[in-house]
Amino acid sequence: MQIKELYKKDIYRGNLILVNDQYPVRLPVIQLESWMDSTYQNQKTVSYLLKQCFCKLGLKDEIVLTSAYRTFQEQQQLYEGSCKENGRVWTKQYVAKAGHSEHETGLAIDLSIRHDQQNMICPDFPYDGIAKKFRDICKDYGFIERYPQDKEKHTHIARESWHFRYVGFPHSYIMQKENLCLEEYHQFLKQYSLYQPYIYVIKNKLFEIFYVPMIQEKTVIALKNEALYQVSGNNHDGFIVTVWRKQV
Ligand code: DAL
Ligand code: ZN
Repeated sequence: MQIKELYKKDIYRGNLILVNDQYPVRLPVIQLESWMDSTYQNQKTVSYLLKQCFCKLGLKDEIVLTSAYRTFQEQQQLYEGSCKENGRVWTKQYVAKAGHSEHETGLAIDLSIRHDQQNMICPDFPYDGIAKKFRDICKDYGFIERYPQDKEKHTHIARESWHFRYVGFPHSYIMQKENLCLEEYHQFLKQYSLYQPYIYVIKNKLFEIFYVPMIQEKTVIALKNEALYQVSGNNHDGFIVTVWRKQV
């Protein structure tokens, strides 16, 4: 058995954290890295996997990044600027309040097909052409379309065809298979525990995924020796543990 200690202070970090109008960003981002040679930054893994995804599609500059990591101040300026220009009601549909944007985590990106003039709040990223090709493979790299149609009641954000969020593989696959947005996925995983995990088999691997509530400052879990595992906080009240195993 391998013993893993989970600390309450870490529930605010990890690839699966839920950031929305209810749950703010709680910790500063570490390990930001520039996207290719642009000025945009993201968490290191996100930049690396996005680059891999673009390489797979053989992209040169057909798709561009219009936004990535934003500081609290940048998010605030965007929100206030949009309120002046577009009004508060419209803005609330498309721009998160400062402190509540996934862009402040370095895990979110906005994409656009190339234009001379980019729309910075609602970039043009359609459901056909090269954008569709990106959509078709992005889950292999752990990305999801974060604000789909018909999920506004959970996300409280209108459909954003351009905003992608890194959640990691295989979560990107499971969310699509089960048709769950991130808010729903967090609820869904709460049914599963160390002793009764959610099982998912893909690409000759078996995944066990489960939720660990954090009631005390520290919780100890025991995992099988041969298993690799990843842990992410949910940004609220616990952890999501993903165990990678060989298919049996
Ligand atoms: N456009 C998304 C909701 C943001 O501002 O984070
Ligand atoms: Zn965005």
